[in-house]
Amino acid sequence: MNIFKDINFIHFDIIDSTNNWAKANASKLDIKCLTCITASEQTEGRGRFSRRWISPKGNLYATLFFTLPAEVSYLKNLGQILAYACICVLKENSFGAQIKWPNDILIEKKKVSGVLSETLPLNDRIGVVLGIGINVNMDGESLKNIDQPATSLSLLSKKSWDLDALLKSLVHQFLQCFEILQEKGFAPFQSDFQQLLAYKGKEISCYDGSKMVKGICHAITKEGGLEILLPSGKFATLLAGEIEFS
Ligand code: BTN
Repeated sequence: MNIFKDINFIHFDIIDSTNNWAKANASKLDIKCLTCITASEQTEGRGRFSRRWISPKGNLYATLFFTLPAEVSYLKNLGQILAYACICVLKENSFGAQIKWPNDILIEKKKVSGVLSETLPLNDRIGVVLGIGINVNMDGESLKNIDQPATSLSLLSKKSWDLDALLKSLVHQFLQCFEILQEKGFAPFQSDFQQLLAYKGKEISCYDGSKMVKGICHAITKEGGLEILLPSGKFATLLAGEIEFS
């Protein structure tokens, strides 16, 4: 099944943020196509929770833009699926990565990639703006500018990587995962996510956008939520948020 009529690639040498560009230009893009916007460098790269995404030359900065009917049930899983697609590509290239729920990617407990998933109303449809940043060719000195433990593919493998080849593999893998998500929902990914889950069995704190919840990181639900064991002995399922290892 061809989900999209076509895939259009748009590249900028330098831009504020590929997600910003997609949102600003969404109404001009073909709603039947997947548009992949990339930049060599971003001056105002954005992360989740209004954080900055440091974006010098050498890394992959990409936004996948497409539209969906407004009523789809799997909207909140799209970022997870892109992160999963990225982990599959990393695995093909011999990197063992983990998912820090919901969609951060860690290698050796350090962040190598993150996904910023945004939406906007577009007539009777929803515009999906899925941004991913992967630290690819970033040296140890530049990685120190990131406000959390971070790593890059070049640092880990001691060689530099072809960004175009990585992007093509990522888009290909995302399309395969997206097709499964559309047909069957998140459930087919649950077991792999569970295997890849970072901090399993560890005490974590999670900010769910309004309050902090503490507990033991336990499992991924078939909807993609995070089940944690609370001090009371009850389980709680988080549907959104940002976890921290406490
Ligand atoms: C995060 O881990 O907080 C998400 C980071 C997402 C960064 C990417 S880089 C391409 C796209 N453009 C942006 O401004 N942000 C995303």
